[in-house]
Amino acid sequence: MKFFIDTANLNQIKEANDLGILDGVTTNPSLMAKEGITGAENIINHYVTICNMVDGDVSAEVISTDFEGIVREGEMLAALHKNIVVKVPMIKDGIKAIKYFSSKGIKTNCTLVFSAGQAILAAKAGATYISPFLGRLDDISYDGIELINQIVHIYNIQAYETQVLAASIRNPVHIVKCAEAGADVITSPLDSILALLKHPLTDIGLEKFLADYKKGNQ
Ligand code: G3P
Repeated sequence: MKFFIDTANLNQIKEANDLGILDGVTTNPSLMAKEGITGAENIINHYVTICNMVDGDVSAEVISTDFEGIVREGEMLAALHKNIVVKVPMIKDGIKAIKYFSSKGIKTNCTLVFSAGQAILAAKAGATYISPFLGRLDDISYDGIELINQIVHIYNIQAYETQVLAASIRNPVHIVKCAEAGADVITSPLDSILALLKHPLTDIGLEKFLADYKKGNQ
């Protein structure tokens, strides 16, 4: 399972990349705004900066909602860097645009996926990735992990090539459950990735090893 980081924060991207386990980055307009990145030129420059930091796919989201606009924006974004993946919303014109991008060899990430039916349509259109938002489903009392299980099952039996990119990760247990479900990728905030490191017995054990070494080597 690949690990992407879900942020536009350059320090966090660097920290995850320095760990040596980072396979890519996902962003969205909300994450850009959170970092104070506004205006088309700044946003474009930010994508290029991220692409130059990480050797992996970087999702850049379109803000158009009509076919022509999505295609125009997507082609502009894809031309910025070979690592750019055009992130397209799960809407009718988005599906049409994904089909178009697929025919042109432009990678896509179909975002805002909340059902298996949406995941099937995106796969039929030839999306490179789909992003089911599992945390937002949990927030409204639906089982987000169950959706990941269902989509992975459908994609396997139908031999769809689209990769399941589990998004809206809120905690380390989500990451483990996505691995169990067979997700191809998780995209997560840095804190949930770092939380995977933590176990109280690791801390207690290390403290004792170091104390015993010190006692024997005084
Ligand atoms: O990148 C999209 C997705 O991961 C959003 O997460 O936490 O805003 O639901 P969240």
